[in-house]
Amino acid sequence: MNILLTGGAGNVGAYVSRELSGHNMPHTALDMREPATMPESAQFAQCDLMDLKQTCEIVAGYDVVLHLAAIPNAFQDPPAHVMGVNMVTCYNVLEAARRNGIRRVVYAGSESSTGFGIHDAVLKPRYLPIDEQHPLWPHESYSFTKRFGEEMLENYARVFGIEGISLRYCGVWTRHIQSELVEMVAPFKRGEKAAQPWFGSYVAGQDVAQAVRLAAQYHFNGGEEIPFEAFFITAANTFYAEPTLDVMKRIYGDPPEVRDPAYYANNPCASAFDIRKAQRLLGYAPRYDWREIEKWEAET
Ligand SMILES: NC(=O)c1ccc[n+]([C@@H]2O[C@H](COP(=O)([O-])OP(=O)(O)OC[C@H]3O[C@@H](n4cnc5c(N)ncnc54)[C@H](O)[C@@H]3O)[C@@H](O)[C@H]2O)c1
Repeated sequence: MNILLTGGAGNVGAYVSRELSGHNMPHTALDMREPATMPESAQFAQCDLMDLKQTCEIVAGYDVVLHLAAIPNAFQDPPAHVMGVNMVTCYNVLEAARRNGIRRVVYAGSESSTGFGIHDAVLKPRYLPIDEQHPLWPHESYSFTKRFGEEMLENYARVFGIEGISLRYCGVWTRHIQSELVEMVAPFKRGEKAAQPWFGSYVAGQDVAQAVRLAAQYHFNGGEEIPFEAFFITAANTFYAEPTLDVMKRIYGDPPEVRDPAYYANNPCASAFDIRKAQRLLGYAPRYDWREIEKWEAET
């Protein structure tokens, strides 16, 4: 399997590159800038994905494109830049994949495309846990791009038969922010409650990389209406010591309907986002828990 990883010099891309190499999956890491470090089995290709011609040339010959390149939040750049870069690069990658007969594109979606989390307005889920059938209500630049990118991929799957997988990960905990994270979770380790209206979702870079690898290896069985799947990817629990349903009462007063009470009875701190589809279809098994974050990088 010839794999092209876009955003290979990025924070999440570095974990994916290491995961692929660890599973004997040689690949090319594409980015505008060179990665700081790269496994020996990986190659680097420089490309600006804003340029369709360049993108078409570089994508030729691969079977699978893991498309991570993007501006990963709405905080540092003007909205027009976030919208422009994320939408145009996604279109160029998909169009280059179509023109070159690429079999599969795995897309870096985001839990933010649901409209919960980093947004200003506090929206209430229709039900818990939030699964892939739940409507998507983004309402700021970055999250719009994550939803629309996923929709573009779904339509390339529908119309041209490209196999599409969107992994909607939540806030990824990576080594470059580890010291801030250790500080952030310290009060929760002492049992203090969070003040923000966030759901406390997180996922380790290593677990995202596992999901990306599994998505590259996933077998569509041919019986799907279209060869497209979306999956929520989070850690098994939240990073709060409070049970998730208590967090929901604190945020909403009257909490959302719980469709599957067994889900929280079995794991009171389970994520608000349902990862069971990823567990069932991809074989995703998150291994990293916030209570042991100090050990994460030593294990990598
Ligand atoms: N970090 C998170 O918490 C998080 C959560 C959910 C989804 N995601 C998604 O995961 C992906 C990776 O995020 P990250 O945190 O590693 O971001 P990052 O900024 O560290 O990496 C993104 C990479 O994309 C590259 N890139 C940007 N524009 C490009 C272009 N025009 N041509 C070629 N390369 C370009 C950048 O140079 C960078 O190396 C993004 O798509 C992001 O939306 C991230």
